Amino acid sequence: MISERVGHMAIRVPDLDEAVDFYQDILGLVETERDGGTSYMTCNERHHELILIQDEGVRGYEYVGLEVPDAETLEKARSLVYRAGGELIGRTYDGEPGVDRAALLRGPDGHIYKLFVGMEETGPLPEGDRVERFEHYSFKSRNLGKSERFIQEALGFRFSDRLGRNASWWHCESLHHGMAFVFAPKPELSHYAFTGTDLNAIGRIADRLRARGQRAIWGPSRHGPGNNLFLYFHDTAGAMIEICADLALMPPEGDYAARQWTGGLKDINQWGGLPPLRFILTGFPIADIHGS
Ligand SMILES: [Fe+2]
Repeated sequence: MISERVGHMAIRVPDLDEAVDFYQDILGLVETERDGGTSYMTCNERHHELILIQDEGVRGYEYVGLEVPDAETLEKARSLVYRAGGELIGRTYDGEPGVDRAALLRGPDGHIYKLFVGMEETGPLPEGDRVERFEHYSFKSRNLGKSERFIQEALGFRFSDRLGRNASWWHCESLHHGMAFVFAPKPELSHYAFTGTDLNAIGRIADRLRARGQRAIWGPSRHGPGNNLFLYFHDTAGAMIEICADLALMPPEGDYAARQWTGGLKDINQWGGLPPLRFILTGFPIADIHGS
């Protein structure tokens, strides 16, 4: 095992205070630490499930975080990166708030991962209506074959589902997917997802969006691959968030059988019609400010 849990992601936002207010209000996240222009937010006992970085100039996500069990595994993953088609970005480092050590990697499609060890625990949060955890993300990629080989060989992900030749879902823990790829001409983030408790929790989030004058992009409905309930909407930087409930579990914890879906786009909406164009076309860039 290399990755043992999907951790968090770091997003550049044009207005940090506005973004923090949005996540507090809509998702119930709590800020655990503010370090200059960087905010660490959580919804559970972990120090952070989301990192927001103030930046009026560069738009995009900076990296997605994957937790590995120990420092040895971190170095083992680093040793596998080039053979798997990716590259290392700098050295292993420490001193970042909330984690022991970390290292950045770039996949063959340009997507950026931060492997980290030792997420700090914070005390229990006050009562609140909030999402449960950071759960998964979906990347657009120009070459699914290369992307998939990299996450299997360097990051330790395993196959869950495939839709035609255009999308695939992957897991590193019992949840059906922590990562997904969809074919697109440009490598971008399609969306990132937090776990909602159930359909009522998703409804309350939609109501809070409405109170802010914001409408959802798509949902609520149920996906085929993963069998999860979903609701999609934009964050303050223009990236797409999914609230996901009821996500299937893979064996041995669950009985979901990995499969090939052949029904096209209608397979991803089990209750209604085809996904709206705004869902398909939304992409959020990679803020690749890392060098090599
Ligand atoms: Fe998703």
